[in-house]
Amino acid sequence: MTVHFIGAGPGAADLLTLRGRDLIAACPVCLYAGSLVPQAVLAHCPPGARIVNTAPLDLDAIMAEITAAHAAGHDIARLHSGDLSLWSAMGEQLRRLRALDIPHTVTPGVPSFAAAAAALGTELTLPGLAQSVVLTRTSGRASAMPAQETLANFAATGATLALHLSIQNLPRVVAETIPHYGPDCPVAIVWRASWPDQRIIRATLSTIEAALPDAIARTALILIGPALAAEGFDESCLYASDYDRRYRPQSADSPWSEWSERDD
Ligand SMILES: C[S@@+](CC[C@H](N)C(=O)[O-])C[C@H]1O[C@@H](n2cnc3c(N)ncnc32)[C@H](O)[C@@H]1O
Repeated sequence: MTVHFIGAGPGAADLLTLRGRDLIAACPVCLYAGSLVPQAVLAHCPPGARIVNTAPLDLDAIMAEITAAHAAGHDIARLHSGDLSLWSAMGEQLRRLRALDIPHTVTPGVPSFAAAAAALGTELTLPGLAQSVVLTRTSGRASAMPAQETLANFAATGATLALHLSIQNLPRVVAETIPHYGPDCPVAIVWRASWPDQRIIRATLSTIEAALPDAIARTALILIGPALAAEGFDESCLYASDYDRRYRPQSADSPWSEWSERDD
């Protein structure tokens, strides 16, 4: 018996990995985080599967489901939204499973920041503008931020910020990032990226609060940084005609020429 943690993706039912789909189809029990996992993903469960929404359950109750399935020898598909490496609460479940010696696997999913960038048609790391992406959040009722992980510290790098779980704190986000990025810095808010009702709001740090419709609450990402403007950036060296690289050595003397021959 194995608990398979599966990243269910950002919302669109077809943004699920083939491995995730096949595991769901093979498990007689499915536990899913109901607030964000799309119902359409559950259609992959086999007929007669026990399907449990864990949104109203606490950790002990979730573990009770797991240990009952374990006792019955039933594999479990454990679904969380997006990817499991970000704000999934997988860590505390894994710790309990290790303590109980219950086997488990982890299958990654498409994270919401990637779905949001795709919706915007934007590369978050544009040459000369930003070469790092900070995946972060602001503090919430249930989660304090470690002391050094302040918006001001991250904003001071000028990197592209991808703020999760923070749409309700937009005024504070704006106030703390404007001193570093300036009022004209582009911002995009992507609400329910990849869902059929997805919405995108583009503005600047000084105009985003007024531009945000009241209906946009929860399940939204705030992306901040010069890369969001998507103009005025350098081309990368990767495809530059005169750039000497392993797959396109510029001369017989190139340190890459031998590699290239060997690989091609
Ligand atoms: C509990 S976290 C889960 C993150 C998830 N594990 C991931 O990989 O994206 C929930 C937050 O992720 C963001 N989020 C999740 N799905 C989203 C989507 N489809 N569109 C925009 N933001 C989303 C929102 O900021 C939301 O408040």
